[in-house]
Amino acid sequence: MPTSFHSNLASQSDYPMKLRCIEKWSETEDCVSILLSHANSICFDFKPGQFVTIGIDIAANVEYRAYSISSLPGQNYLQLTVKRVDGGKVSNYIIDHLTVGDEVECLTPAGEFNNIDCPATPVNGEQKVLLISAGCGITPVFAMAQSWLNDEPKTDIAFLHIARDIAHTIYFDKLESMHKQHVDFDLHLLLKDAGDTHYPQGRFSVQWLENLVSDLKDRTVYLCGPNQFMLDAASYLEQLGFDMSRFHQESFTPMPTESSQPDASDSEESAQVTIDLPAFGQSLQASKGTLLADALEQGGVPIIVACRSGICGSCKCKVKVGQVDSNSQSPLTEDEITQGYVLACSSTLNDDVTIEL
Ligand code: FES
Repeated sequence: MPTSFHSNLASQSDYPMKLRCIEKWSETEDCVSILLSHANSICFDFKPGQFVTIGIDIAANVEYRAYSISSLPGQNYLQLTVKRVDGGKVSNYIIDHLTVGDEVECLTPAGEFNNIDCPATPVNGEQKVLLISAGCGITPVFAMAQSWLNDEPKTDIAFLHIARDIAHTIYFDKLESMHKQHVDFDLHLLLKDAGDTHYPQGRFSVQWLENLVSDLKDRTVYLCGPNQFMLDAASYLEQLGFDMSRFHQESFTPMPTESSQPDASDSEESAQVTIDLPAFGQSLQASKGTLLADALEQGGVPIIVACRSGICGSCKCKVKVGQVDSNSQSPLTEDEITQGYVLACSSTLNDDVTIEL
């Protein structure tokens, strides 16, 4: 692993920057970690839990996706962990084809799900957190856990991860050694198939949550994972009477929208709308109900669509004329919303619009 040091910190104006893959290894059979570094050994400044948007040249097109950073700030590399997803163009390319020496583009680290903007709230004078994750949702909470372990005053960390089995548990060896080395780090794994390990076997439920972390009401909770898992976990917390003002979450799973795949048999849905892009001298046609991001990408408009989940803000664009239906505005400021900015990945077309990128 490369040397780390705390000088030569990257500033906002250094982005976007070119980074090179300097290490790559398997975490599980369907998941790899990569280290990215800058030619000048720049150190990276971000808040633990944040993500970066990476642009990779695939078949002569630069494709962008957002990934949580699992290394710590102040290091001269970024660690990203990438899991295979069905039809996941960029993630699967990274797993199958990205090699040490390859170059990627890196945008500014961002995201509100981090332990600086969402600090733990002490209860009865004690700072205790519960990090709950499944699948690749482990990456931001793993970064937060490492950061708290390095911080003073100490934070009591309960780390609950749900996985199929040990072989599919991302960072398993590191988690076990953190558990052995730090009294403040309590590892709870719940496995579908525990094999001959000492970890409990079962399906995540309100009873498991209560049994595994009996003092959860004293903690601030950070949750990340697939959408349904997160909905379930939040509902279990509510059922247990948890104070949801101490609850923070993030999901990178694209939200299915009813209208993201228009039904051609539905005359209302198959009606056409026009998207005018004066700056590009372009006018596109799309079916009513199409995602604005899909329509722009299909029209060859150079928009960056990284997370597809309404989180990263990379697909921000301005609706100058007309209206779209948006289901997320979270990375936009009040001022931007007032000016007409929307997230193309989270907005469907129902009318003719004029768009400015
Ligand atoms: S692609 Fe991230 S917010 Fe739209």
